[in-house]
Amino acid sequence: MASSDAEASVVRPDASDLERAAEAALRPRRLDEFVGQHVVRDQLSLILDAAAGRGKAPDHVLLSGPPGLGKTTLAMIIAAELGTSLRVTSGPAIQHAGDLAAVLSSLEENEVLFLDEIHRLARPAEELLYVAMEDFRVDVVVGKGAGASAIPLSLPPFTVVGATTRAGLLPAPLRDRFGFTAHLDFYSAEELERVLSRSAGLLGVPLDAEAAGEIASRSRGTPRIANRLLRRVRDWAQVRGDGRLSLEAARAALEVYEVDPLGLDRLDRAVLTALCMRFGGGPVGLTTLAVAVGEEPETVETVAEPFLVREGLVGRTPRGRIAMPAAWEHLGLTAPAASGTLFT
Ligand SMILES: Nc1ncnc2c1ncn2[C@@H]1O[C@H](COP(=O)(O)OP(=O)(O)OP(=O)(O)O)[C@@H](O)[C@H]1O
Ligand SMILES: [Mg+2]
Repeated sequence: MASSDAEASVVRPDASDLERAAEAALRPRRLDEFVGQHVVRDQLSLILDAAAGRGKAPDHVLLSGPPGLGKTTLAMIIAAELGTSLRVTSGPAIQHAGDLAAVLSSLEENEVLFLDEIHRLARPAEELLYVAMEDFRVDVVVGKGAGASAIPLSLPPFTVVGATTRAGLLPAPLRDRFGFTAHLDFYSAEELERVLSRSAGLLGVPLDAEAAGEIASRSRGTPRIANRLLRRVRDWAQVRGDGRLSLEAARAALEVYEVDPLGLDRLDRAVLTALCMRFGGGPVGLTTLAVAVGEEPETVETVAEPFLVREGLVGRTPRGRIAMPAAWEHLGLTAPAASGTLFT
């Protein structure tokens, strides 16, 4: 079934709970082990060192960026660098403002509160958070109805580290409460190679340099995907190879998992093939394209398209989706002469 392809794919950036548990072992613990993101790392290290020098909690930090780029990892690193503990919760886990008040009022001095998926926080909790972040205070409501009153409870200084894949969804007043916002970007192939050799070391598997290069170039700029592909190549090497993660092992394993040299999976290629072969390179409407590949329009739009567009393979126009020159090239096809007119 086509729809299960999307879920089974090894190149999607999201992770199951099970995978998140496996990831814990590969997380860098300190800032200097964290690969890439030089600008963010540099800025963060200044903030953390300055706070440590003053013996105070640093500004609140907002981490934004696509899944699998290291937001949770950085939140843990921030607490480790500050030598303090990390309290973890998330937007969806907080149902009522009272839940957040309970967490806040149990914080200890200089602790780091990690609020994952902060864009999914309910509105009343959000308002409580503004006050807590700015004035280190929560108003505890006692009683109900007309007789209810708010008792201000002051909190020790602490640092909120918020993470979001959708910074645009955060209301401005909340965004403004963060003294520092770090946006994480996709990693270069060279950076991913470093992530991979570090991970291979931790897993105790011998990884050849060419294999690291091959895996890195198919990992869509995402450390989570790189680590996942590494585990799949390790399996292949163990079961069908000699245990060594060679270039041949990497290529053979990634073929089994249908990840092509650009990091496209079966659905991605089906979309490209339909666009080029059935619709002459477009423009074609999303719904039509989705029917052609046997998927829901939403799946094509949210699962396959973002990477295809990012890679310059597919274009979105007011009249529909079009195949860009790189798409024809990637499929080993020649673009029809007329397709050039689509770009004018
Ligand atoms: N800069 C990095 N150096 C080394 N490993 C990294 C780096 N960034 C991420 N990783 C690894 O990638 C995996 C995913 O990272 P992490 O969980 O921090 O992503 P995330 O941004 O929180 O994703 P999500 O939005 O899905 O929660 C982890 O196993 C982590 O070890
Ligand atoms: Mg995370």
